[in-house]
Amino acid sequence: MDKKVTVVGAGNVGATAAQRLAEKRLCDVVLVDIAEGLPQGKALDLAEAAPVEKHDANLIGTNSYEETADSDIVIITAGIPRKPGMSRDDLLKTNSDIIKDVVGNIAEKSPNSILIIVSNPLDAMCHVAYDASGFDKKRVMGMAGVLDSARFRTFIARELNVSVENTHAFVLGGHGDTMVPLPRFSTVAGIPITELLSKDRIDSMVDRTRKGGAEIVSLLKTGSAFYAPASAAVEMAESILMDRKKILPCAACLDGEYGINGLFIGVPVKLGRNGIEDIIEIKLTDEESADLQKSADAVRSLVDAMARLE
Ligand code: NAI
Ligand code: 2OP
Repeated sequence: MDKKVTVVGAGNVGATAAQRLAEKRLCDVVLVDIAEGLPQGKALDLAEAAPVEKHDANLIGTNSYEETADSDIVIITAGIPRKPGMSRDDLLKTNSDIIKDVVGNIAEKSPNSILIIVSNPLDAMCHVAYDASGFDKKRVMGMAGVLDSARFRTFIARELNVSVENTHAFVLGGHGDTMVPLPRFSTVAGIPITELLSKDRIDSMVDRTRKGGAEIVSLLKTGSAFYAPASAAVEMAESILMDRKKILPCAACLDGEYGINGLFIGVPVKLGRNGIEDIIEIKLTDEESADLQKSADAVRSLVDAMARLE
């Protein structure tokens, strides 16, 4: 195929993203991981599904970066989850070291690629990737808003017993407890949900959306969500690969937009072949704006904590 996407981290999110990319016939895929055999095994398994799934994507699994050269997009899912006894700062330090190492290799082998960061803590890891790559900020972005909005859309569709296809939602801000679901901009067939549901029902869905990641962790017990996160990352990749110019909520480095400077945070962006082609500024109410600033403050405190760990 004429497009190539590298997925770093062949764990749950990475392998599922590789599967979706191949089965949507979007590109060849290189799966990279430090665990020996893991990316090779998963890539071979996915390749052996191709005759049945009827696609011709080339799938390679590897522990090195040689095969990743000249990738169009790199989706980074490498990292470790928080383990018992580990502080948030420990996780911050461990994952930021992993992202630095991964991005250093990627920047060398694929200097023109576009980076989609998935690893947590998401907004802070976008900063690490941006600094380590030296790439233009249009080519570094984080996946969170598409996932958080998809969760909100699922709850809206279930609540109103309508097709998920009729729903649209925007969740802005950082990927954490302070994320900012925007009911005014969340619609069913173009009708704002504020006209369809009571404030109590909306508040309850907003709260469930904010806790969406934790809800899956508490059910799975051994890991976090991966089907919906992989779908969300692939929707971003598809918009870039196919130059679809979709407007999606993504973590982007702001330069004064929404009154925020030098910080990665989730906002609506236009995604096309050049990466982030536009940052869309929607007019927020004072309350929505205050919530976004509060979320930005939470991201900034993580970024500051990371700087102290250097
Ligand atoms: P996982 O544990 O299944 O996979 C992570 C993989 O990264 C492992 O296979 C591990 O060997 C690999 N890895 C570790 N260090 C590496 C390195 N230096 N180079 C290459 N590979 C390396 O985890 P999962 O479920 O796939 O999640 C991946 C990350 O994505 C986590 O940080 C998770 O918190 C985050 N996440 C973020 C979401 C978001 O909305 N932004 C949603 C879901 C997950
Ligand atoms: C999620 O929201 C763990 O960030 C991950 O599911």
